Amino acid sequence: MKKVLVVHYSQSGQLSDIARHFTQPLVDDENVSVVFENVCPQKPYPFPWPFFQFLDTFPNSVYLDPPTIEPLTVSADEDFDLIIIAYQVWFLSPSLPMTGFMQSSAAKKLLKDKPVVTLIGCRNMWLLAQEEMKKMIAGLGGRLVGNVALVDEAGSIGSFWATPVWVLTGKKGPHLGGLIPRAGVSEENIKRCDRFGARIVQWFDEGRELNGDLLKNLGAVQIEESLIASEKTGRRAFRLWGRLFRALGPEGARLRRCLLAVYAVFLVVLIVTVVPLNMLLNKLLAPLMRERIDAQKAYFAEPSGSASEVADEKIMRVQSTEYS
Ligand SMILES: Cc1cc2nc3c(=O)[nH]c(=O)nc-3n(C[C@H](O)[C@H](O)[C@H](O)COP(=O)(O)O)c2cc1C
Repeated sequence: MKKVLVVHYSQSGQLSDIARHFTQPLVDDENVSVVFENVCPQKPYPFPWPFFQFLDTFPNSVYLDPPTIEPLTVSADEDFDLIIIAYQVWFLSPSLPMTGFMQSSAAKKLLKDKPVVTLIGCRNMWLLAQEEMKKMIAGLGGRLVGNVALVDEAGSIGSFWATPVWVLTGKKGPHLGGLIPRAGVSEENIKRCDRFGARIVQWFDEGRELNGDLLKNLGAVQIEESLIASEKTGRRAFRLWGRLFRALGPEGARLRRCLLAVYAVFLVVLIVTVVPLNMLLNKLLAPLMRERIDAQKAYFAEPSGSASEVADEKIMRVQSTEYS
């Protein structure tokens, strides 16, 4: 009997839904036992978010300040064959409840020497959050064997409006007669997530040791190259501002609230000026930096590989049958 632990947290229910579809083949297999652990912060985060509280969460998110979480229902001494960590991204970092879990004493015991699969459901900027998650997993002695990232269906520009409207109002949309598209990952992509669980069942059945090939060629992630530079710039700005906010007191402190108003204006100006300029510049420079960008894309797609690799493989298969 193989034992799998799924650690998850979700505000709207989206990520728990993704985790459920992902793990359905494991749940259906009588040779696998699946334990779901829902992470509960002692002080719950609101959903929908009040605007200023939403903004005020970014310094703690970026600096990985862990909130206290309720004790887990699973014993930290239980021995699992695989741990699946389902997390969402908050301000280019793993969400605070999941950071709370990763920094708990229970995680230290549960992840030690264990294969880990990360499962992300977010707007579409997850690359640097996953870098933080990788460090935390390695710090606990875990071994990352797979990563799946599901992103919002509205694309970069659509979700730029749709996701904030969703988390600030609780309504997915579409809004304004479709001008702001529906937020969240598409139903189709959530349903199709069971292919990853099926692959894990297959490897368990074949008695294979789980390694970085586990979820290859299933289109586990899609690397949006124009977002690599944007994430790096955004993160640098978050860290700078975050340091200033932290110096002014804890979350909710009055001085922080005042600075937040200034920060909100700064963000809007940044978004309507620097972000499009940055994207345009990156598009223009991309042909000159092709090799470097491709190397970065390959790096961020590890260990499970990107959707375009699946497409490449299909094309190669078609070509090889055509030519044989
Ligand atoms: C405070 C906050 C910050 C967020 N920051 C990001 C982000 O930096 N990148 C991203 O792709 N999505 C971001 N999102 C969207 C979430 O990753 C996620 O898609 C959404 O909150 C739904 O998750 P749920 O399953 O918890 O409901 C953010 C959401 C919240 C609430």
